[in-house]
Amino acid sequence: MALVTMRQLLDEAAKGGYGVGAFNVNNLEQVQAIMEAAQETSSPVIIQASRGARKYANDRFLYHLMLAAAEVYPDISVALHQDHGNGPDTCRSAIELGFTSVMMDGSLKEDGKTPADFEYNVQVTREVVEMAHERGVTVEGELGTLGGIEDGVGSGEVNLTDPDQAVEFVERTGVDALAVAIGTSHGAYKFTSEPDRDVLAMNIIEEINKRLPTTHLVMHGSSSVPKELVDTINQYGGEIRPTFGVPVREIQEGIKHGVRKVNVDTDLRLAATGAIRKAFAEEPGEFDPRYYLKPAREAMKQVVRARMEAFGQAGHAADYEPISLEEMANRYKQQGHQLTVT
Ligand code: G3H
Ligand code: 13P
Ligand code: ZN
Repeated sequence: MALVTMRQLLDEAAKGGYGVGAFNVNNLEQVQAIMEAAQETSSPVIIQASRGARKYANDRFLYHLMLAAAEVYPDISVALHQDHGNGPDTCRSAIELGFTSVMMDGSLKEDGKTPADFEYNVQVTREVVEMAHERGVTVEGELGTLGGIEDGVGSGEVNLTDPDQAVEFVERTGVDALAVAIGTSHGAYKFTSEPDRDVLAMNIIEEINKRLPTTHLVMHGSSSVPKELVDTINQYGGEIRPTFGVPVREIQEGIKHGVRKVNVDTDLRLAATGAIRKAFAEEPGEFDPRYYLKPAREAMKQVVRARMEAFGQAGHAADYEPISLEEMANRYKQQGHQLTVT
C-alpha cells in the first residue's frame, strides 16, 4: 500500500519539475476513475475530500473508499487530503480519520464564506500546522480569496494574493503548501471569454515563486471546463451557459513557476453528467445504475488521464518509497516546519 504524505509527494514533484492533480471525490466511481487513470499513466495522485463530500458519503465510507484505492493500487503513491478545512476542528477530525494532509483555509471565516483578516488566517493556520506536523501530516494554507475578478465575487484586486504578504504568511505559519488567489473561482462559470493576463493573474505566481522558491504553490479552481464536455451536456438536454475555464497551457506555465498541486473537481462533474445524460437519452428503458455509471466513470477517467499527462505527473508513480507519518513527524521535530524531505 502506498499512502504518502502530500509533503513528500510535492517535494518529489518539485524535484522532477512537474505538477500533481488533486481530484475531489464523493463516491466510488470517482475514486475508481482517478485510480484507473493513475494506474494507466503511472501517476502519483492526490485524492481530496471537501467537508461536503465527507457529509455526503459519511466519513467512514469515504475514508475506506480512499483507503481501498491505496490498497488496490499498491504501486501508486496516493495522498489523502482534506480540501478547504474551515477550522482546526475539521482538520483535527480529518487527521484522526487518517488523512495524510489537510488544508486549513483561513482566508475565510468558519462559515466558509466571509473573508477573514490576515491575523485570523495566520493564527488558525499556525494552530493547524502545530497539530498536524506533530503527527507528520502535511498542511496547505490559503492566502487571498478565490472568486473571479469578473464574476463580482469578492472585490477584485484586493482579494488576489499579495506576494510580500505571502512571505510573511509562510514564515509565520510554517505551511508546507500555499494556495494562491490569481483570479480563478470554483465551479463551471469562471470566465466569460478566454482568460487573458488581466483576469488570470499568472504574474502573481511568478512573483511569489521568486520570493518563496521552496514553497509548493497550489492552484484552486483549475478546471478547464472543456467546450466538448459542456456541449455533450447541452446536446442531451442540459443547460450550461457559455463559459470558459483555466486553459491547461496556463496551468503548465504555473507549473514552471512553482505550482505543484492543481485542484480539479468541476471537469469530472461535467464529464460524468454528460455521459449520464447521453446514456439516459440513448436507452430510456434502462434502469440499472451500472448502465449509466459505467460510462460516467469512463468519461471521468479520460479527463483525469489527460490532466495527468498535461501536468507532467505521468510516469512518476513509483519513483520513491513512501516515508511514514511517524518518520515525517520526527523530521518536522528535528528540522522545523520548513524542512526538506528529499
Ligand atoms: O472546493 C470546491 C470543491 O469543488 C468541492 O466542492 O464543497 O461542493 O464538495 P463541494
Ligand atoms: P474547480 O471547481 O475548478 O474544479 O476547482 C476545484 C477546487 O479548487 C477544489 O478545491
Ligand atoms: Zn478549492
